[in-house]
Amino acid sequence: MSNTWETILSSPTPKAWIEKALDSLEILLIDHAHCEKKAATTAISLIHKYPHFNLAKSLSPLAREELLHFEQVLRIMNKLGFKYKNLKSGKYAKTLYDSCSSKEPERLKDTFIVCSLIEARSCERFHALIPHLPPMLKNFYSKLYEAEARHCDLYLDLYTTTYNEDWSQRLSHISAIESDFINKKDNLFRFHSGL
Ligand SMILES: [Fe+2]
Ligand SMILES: [Fe+2]
Repeated sequence: MSNTWETILSSPTPKAWIEKALDSLEILLIDHAHCEKKAATTAISLIHKYPHFNLAKSLSPLAREELLHFEQVLRIMNKLGFKYKNLKSGKYAKTLYDSCSSKEPERLKDTFIVCSLIEARSCERFHALIPHLPPMLKNFYSKLYEAEARHCDLYLDLYTTTYNEDWSQRLSHISAIESDFINKKDNLFRFHSGL
């Protein structure tokens, strides 16, 4: 059986991005640290915004796990001599969130899908990078890969349990926007950037 992340992404990461990433490990890791921190922030803000859906049950542990990932990336960066700093954000997440409906309940449905797609693309990029990485990063990314694959499923499960309906039609619309973004020219290299 194939993994969910493979089935919901509309296209693989282009080789050119992988090559760029291997040449830009410092920026990749700094931005990756920010991604983990943002993943925790997103989960907490969903718990806050939709208290009536009991999202805390699954998203509070997820937020804690993402913060652990954040700390782990910081430790690896420290070992490699890379300094944590703020970076200008890429347009990936904004592009996906801009594609969400502004009206409820569609907005939360779309948000679950966007969160799942971001987790899926993270998995796919870890998977593509792992064979080319130095041993320390290879082991670390292999562990993260498993966690983010689980998160990809978790967000789609939240959609199903919250709304008791199929997500596939809305997913294919947003997945096409996601795929278009990662295949387009992008001046800023980031973990989720285009080319
Ligand atoms: Fe994570
Ligand atoms: Fe995650």
